[in-house]
Amino acid sequence: MTSPFSSSPRLPIGPEDPWLAPLAGFSDLPFRLLCREQGCAAACTEMVSAKGLIFSNAATQRILASHTADTPLVVQVYGPEAETVGQAMEMLCDRGVRFFDLNVGCSVPKVTKTGSGAALLRTPETLLQIVKTMVAKAGTGQVGVKLRLGWRPGEDVFPELAWRLEDLGIAWLTLHPRWATQGYSGQADWSRLARLREQITLPIIASGDLFTAEDAQRCLDQTGVNGVMFARGALWDPAIFRKFRALRSKSGADFATPAFCLGLVRRHMELARAHQDDRRALLAMRTIAPRYLRSFTGAKSLRTQLTQIESWSQLETLLDALLKTLPHQVSQPRPMKTHTSKEGP
Ligand SMILES: Cc1cc2nc3c(=O)[nH]c(=O)nc-3n(C[C@H](O)[C@H](O)[C@H](O)COP(=O)(O)O)c2cc1C
Repeated sequence: MTSPFSSSPRLPIGPEDPWLAPLAGFSDLPFRLLCREQGCAAACTEMVSAKGLIFSNAATQRILASHTADTPLVVQVYGPEAETVGQAMEMLCDRGVRFFDLNVGCSVPKVTKTGSGAALLRTPETLLQIVKTMVAKAGTGQVGVKLRLGWRPGEDVFPELAWRLEDLGIAWLTLHPRWATQGYSGQADWSRLARLREQITLPIIASGDLFTAEDAQRCLDQTGVNGVMFARGALWDPAIFRKFRALRSKSGADFATPAFCLGLVRRHMELARAHQDDRRALLAMRTIAPRYLRSFTGAKSLRTQLTQIESWSQLETLLDALLKTLPHQVSQPRPMKTHTSKEGP
């Protein structure tokens, strides 16, 4: 069987090429395919544990599920030291994976207490060893690193760490300009992206508070970074990629109609049914459908019913009923700044 990964073309990095961020619990195969249809240029998997991969646990295998249409794909790994990550890289390379990212941003205690994720910001030599191993296994031009500013205010890792990563041959760097101890509080400090842009030559992808297409354009204008990565913005509105492309091309297209948003739900449903365990896919739609339809002010009870669906036919019936009930225009969706029920790494 040919690997779905092996057909990946060049990895696009540029202002016209919006990426989908790694989103644990969310950036699975159906969601990535939906985002790609909406104009996402490259997508990341949820973070994959190097150890989980070596011990081949079911959750890890599920995260790695892919498809020939799911390209170009960046597989994000996390792990506490070079040997484990190196072993995992060999397995991924054997599967045909071409592009890799190292998670150095996850601040969830479950991950950091093992020395992985954002904890690596405090052990830069270990981080550099891991990256060196990754580049040796995958080749130059194939590996990126996703970081925060440092562990806590005052423990700044830039620009020195970026220079050293550049020397090791990484191909891009993604920066979410918050401190690990900050979690998601406060605001992403885009001025730090602008400063880093002046200090290194490596392509920089911005992540952080890109909730709308307009946010992403402002971030590009204010910082001069090479590209943007949508995270919570895409979770709330997968059409954000299309909107961003329309904004850049000044086409002025308006996607905020009930029919369009219902179309997103239907398409996600089709993709989930085609690529996921049926029960799992149905349960996921209980949160996905209300999320994509949150801008509709009417039909509250129908939306509530979406959170309790027990069958695909029930979902279809509710979507048909919603289409009849909803007004013709909805307000421009602005994703909430607060978290999804799941705290992001
Ligand atoms: C639910 C959720 C899951 C996340 N999972 C990951 C992950 O697996 N790996 C990672 O590097 N970042 C992860 N992040 C961080 C995002 O990729 C992104 O950097 C962060 O949300 C900031 O972007 P935003 O403010 O535009 O959402 C996650 C965030 C959220 C909200």
